[in-house]
Amino acid sequence: MGKLRPEKEEHLAPCHTRRPRSLWNLLLLLWTFLNCGLGGNAQGPGEWTPWGSWSRCSSSCGRGLSVRSRRCIRFPREELCWGDTHEYRLCQQPDCPPGAMPFRDLQCALYNGHPVLGTQKTYQWVPFYGAPNHCDLNCLAVGHDFYHSFGRVLDGTPCSPGAQDLCVAGRCLSAGCDGLLGSDAREDRCGRCGGANDSCLFVQRVFRDAGAFAGYWNVTLIPEGARHIRAAHRSRNHLALMGGDGRYVLNGNWAVSPAGTYEAAGTRVVYTRATGPEETLRAAGPTSQDLLLQVLLQEPNPGIEFEFWLPRERYGPFQAQAQVLGWSPRQPQPREVEPQPLESPTVIPPRTPIPTPEPCPPCPDTRGRAHRLLHYCGSDFVFRARVLGRVRQAQETRYEVRVQLIYKNRSPLRALEYVWAPSRCPCPPLALHRDYLLAARRLISPDGTQDRLLLPHAGYARLWSPAEDSRVRLAARHCPL
Ligand SMILES: *[C@@H]1O[C@H](CO)[C@@H](O)[C@H](O)[C@H]1NC(C)=O
Ligand SMILES: *[C@@H]1O[C@H](CO)[C@@H](O)[C@H](O)[C@H]1NC(C)=O
Repeated sequence: MGKLRPEKEEHLAPCHTRRPRSLWNLLLLLWTFLNCGLGGNAQGPGEWTPWGSWSRCSSSCGRGLSVRSRRCIRFPREELCWGDTHEYRLCQQPDCPPGAMPFRDLQCALYNGHPVLGTQKTYQWVPFYGAPNHCDLNCLAVGHDFYHSFGRVLDGTPCSPGAQDLCVAGRCLSAGCDGLLGSDAREDRCGRCGGANDSCLFVQRVFRDAGAFAGYWNVTLIPEGARHIRAAHRSRNHLALMGGDGRYVLNGNWAVSPAGTYEAAGTRVVYTRATGPEETLRAAGPTSQDLLLQVLLQEPNPGIEFEFWLPRERYGPFQAQAQVLGWSPRQPQPREVEPQPLESPTVIPPRTPIPTPEPCPPCPDTRGRAHRLLHYCGSDFVFRARVLGRVRQAQETRYEVRVQLIYKNRSPLRALEYVWAPSRCPCPPLALHRDYLLAARRLISPDGTQDRLLLPHAGYARLWSPAEDSRVRLAARHCPL
C-alpha cells in the first residue's frame, strides 16, 4: 500500500497527515500536528493517488468503454476519499462490419447449449428487453415463453439497441460532453463543454418593420458560427432563408416550401408551420456560412422574433454590417418605433428627418363620368376602402387601408393593403378614417421583388356614398372588352 503514494504531487494540505517516509516527512508530520492541534483525532478524508492511464477500448468495433482508476491513501482514522475510484469514458472504434453480432447478443449466446437453471435442459438465448433493468443480462429462451437474468451485462454494453447510453457496473449511464460516462458536463450555448455561456453573445430582437409591399424583406443576417437559432412569427407571411451563395434554402422565389428539415450552412434547419397561423425556424448550428433571414410579406408584419448565439468575436462585425446594410433605404420607416427588448435595434434604421413640408399645390379637377370610366376600365382594382394610416415620404405617400368591398380585381386583395401614391402631395388626397372608392393599378418592379397597389396621380379616389356606389356599378358595364 505504501507504494501507492502519489509520486508527483507531493504536497501536504494543511491538517492532513500522511505516513512518514523519511526524516523530512517526519518533520513535516510534526509540523502538521503542531499546527492542527496535537493528538487530535485524525480528521478529513484521505488522499487520492493520481489517475492511472486509460485502459484499452472494451470493444474492437463500434462504441466501447475505457476505464481508469485511482486509489485512496489514508490513515486508519481518516475518512475514505471523496469521489469515485473509477472513471469511464466512451471510446469509438471503426464501425462494426455489417452482420456482426451485437455485444449483448454475444453475451446471451455464451449460454447456448449449456445446461442452466439447475437442470440438464439446454436452450438458445437471445436478448430480452422487456425486463426492468436494462443493465441486467436478460435473455429469452428461443421458442419458450420465459427469460432468465444472468446477472449484469458486461461494462460497455449499450443499454438498449442503438442507444447512446452504456451500462457500467449494472447502471445505465450517459456520457457528458467531456466523454465521461455519468458526467453531468454539458455544452453551454457557445458550444463549450462545461462553459458558462461567456464566450458568445445572445442576440434577441424583434423585426417590426410593417412592410410596405408584398415581397421579400431582409430581417437579419445570421452570421457564420451562430448557434441555437430560432425565428418565429404569427401571421400569414412566410419566413425565407437564403444561403451565403444567394440561393434560397426555403420559401424562395415566391414558392412556399413544405414544412420539414432542410440542410443549410452545415446545420439542419427545422421549419414548422401551424394553422395558427404561425411559423418557426430552428437550427442548432454552428453555421458554417452566413445566412440571410427574410420574410415574404403578404400582409402587414406583426413582428418577427429571432434569436441566436454568436461567438463574441463575430458580434462587432455583425452589428456593423447590419448598420451599414441598414436593411436598405428603400425599406420604409416603421410606422411607430416600439421599444426593443434587450439590445438596441439595428434592423430598423433611424427615422430620417423629414424636411419641413412645402404646401401642396391644388389638385386638378377630376370630376365627371369620363374620368370615372377611364379609371374604372383602365385599373386593375376598384374597391371601397377605409383609410387607416398615412406615411409621407420624400417621393411618395403610403396609405394603409382596410378593403371593405371589391368591385373589380385582377388578382386577390387582402383585408389590409397599402396603397401608394407617387408624390408627397397625392392627388386627390385621402383623409384619414374616411371611406373611399379607389381605382388602383398593380405595379410590379422589374426584379419582381416589389408588388404595389398604385393610385395614379389625378386618379380616381372619391368619398364613398350610395350615389357614387351606383355610378361605379354603372361604369362597369361600359368598359370596352
Ligand atoms: C446558458 O444559457 C442557457 C439559456 O439561456 C441556460 O439555460 C443555461 O443555464 C446557461 N448556462 C450557464 C452555465 O449559465
Ligand atoms: C438584403 O440583404 C442582402 C444581403 O446583405 C443585400 O444584398 C440586399 O440588397 C438586401 N435587400 C434589401 C431589399 O435591402
